[in-house]
Amino acid sequence: MEEQRDQWGSRLGFILATIGSAVGLGNIWRFSYQAYENGGGAFLFPYIFALLTAGIPLLLLEMGFGFFTRNSAPSSFRKIGKKYEWIGWWSILIAFVVTVYYIVIIAWSLLFVFQSFSLGWTADPEGFFFNDFLNFSGSAFQLGGIQWKIFFALLAVWLINYSIIAGGVEKGIEKASKIFMPLLAIMVLIIVFRGLTLPGAVEGVKAFITPDFSKILDWQIWVGAYGQIFYTLSLGFGIMIAYSSYLPKKSDVIKNGVIAGFSNSVFSIIVGFGVFGILGYMANQQGVAIADVATSGIGLAFIAFPKAINLLPGIPQLFGFAFFLSLTIAGLSSSISLIESVVSSLIDNFNLSRKQAVTLVCVVGFLFGVPFVTSGGLAILDIVDHFVNIFGLLVVGIVEMFVLSYVFDLNKIKDNMNKSSDLQVGSGWTAMIKIVAPIFIGIGLIQNTISEVS
Ligand code: PFF
Ligand code: NA
Repeated sequence: MEEQRDQWGSRLGFILATIGSAVGLGNIWRFSYQAYENGGGAFLFPYIFALLTAGIPLLLLEMGFGFFTRNSAPSSFRKIGKKYEWIGWWSILIAFVVTVYYIVIIAWSLLFVFQSFSLGWTADPEGFFFNDFLNFSGSAFQLGGIQWKIFFALLAVWLINYSIIAGGVEKGIEKASKIFMPLLAIMVLIIVFRGLTLPGAVEGVKAFITPDFSKILDWQIWVGAYGQIFYTLSLGFGIMIAYSSYLPKKSDVIKNGVIAGFSNSVFSIIVGFGVFGILGYMANQQGVAIADVATSGIGLAFIAFPKAINLLPGIPQLFGFAFFLSLTIAGLSSSISLIESVVSSLIDNFNLSRKQAVTLVCVVGFLFGVPFVTSGGLAILDIVDHFVNIFGLLVVGIVEMFVLSYVFDLNKIKDNMNKSSDLQVGSGWTAMIKIVAPIFIGIGLIQNTISEVS
């Protein structure tokens, strides 16, 4: 039985779903900290350079490819040749692995939404997070017992994802995006407004944006910028291919892609102001330097922020709620895209109905998530995340560009997009994909492999 292929109901719906995929946990904690660590305002230069030379061109490439083939990643690559199908499956595998632990972090965020009502992270958020909350064993080889609260939150987050994705593209994902994205925007405005109106905020923001030009010649920073752009735009997971395959024939892919790509970075930068406003306030209250309060990644969201929230005047609960709810929503809109990428490939390739495919992915994904809610979970998460980011995204990205450029024909994708677009892509775009982006990403990979071995 051939099911009619799903379609987006509106242009806005597609754009919001795409932004929803892009804007995620990474924008809220990864970007701010990376910018800070890599030279503040000086990081923005490589970051924007990477956005223009790799991010947007590749986003348009993946979108244009899905729009051309009207299929999810594996069958899209199969259209180029049977022996290229694995590239699609590789991105799907990565999407699945990332989903498994990405959803664990959403589950933490969800629990922290409830913690914020009572400032339940206590006066010692660090001790709370590692000991009470995670019961962290410190090692991936010491799993210990299951943390039941997190276990049930994980189940809840999978169920939310299930109920959205089972609803289909228009009635599920699109509808959810239309609720999630405005809600997220409101939450973020609260965070930024609160962040910037606190004493010490200016110092924080200065740390965020003051350029340290001595760092700009360090190639690590460039590599970091390219890595961040890939991750933040959800490239290399087959997502943009799948999402664009649901576009009606006459859609303006280029304009949609450009809007989504820029919105995502603007979002990151705005959030960065809020985050550093708060960090500045905390440093000010404790009489220490910003460097002492800015921690990276998970620590920033689940330790530094609760600490800062504890110190807020007025009703800190409200702020905590806004922060963790925004983390949860940003995460959810990304996780539905990750799952949809896997689901759409199963539907396209195995004659499964949407319901069957979603059920399969959610049940298996949940089961794989269980080790992550044990006492060793955080350690496993760190290891998996590290390898996925390097061997997943960047490698897939470079292979994808190579095959589409030199085996397939970029012009086919280009002409097909241009036909129904107000904006046009030309030889500049082709040059980015054939030459500029692969060079930078290639250097990044070599550099990473070297530092991995040594
Ligand atoms: N772009 C998301 C973020 O920045 O958090 C992460 C992500 C979501 C990556 C979905 C990949 C993906 F498919
Ligand atoms: Na993002």
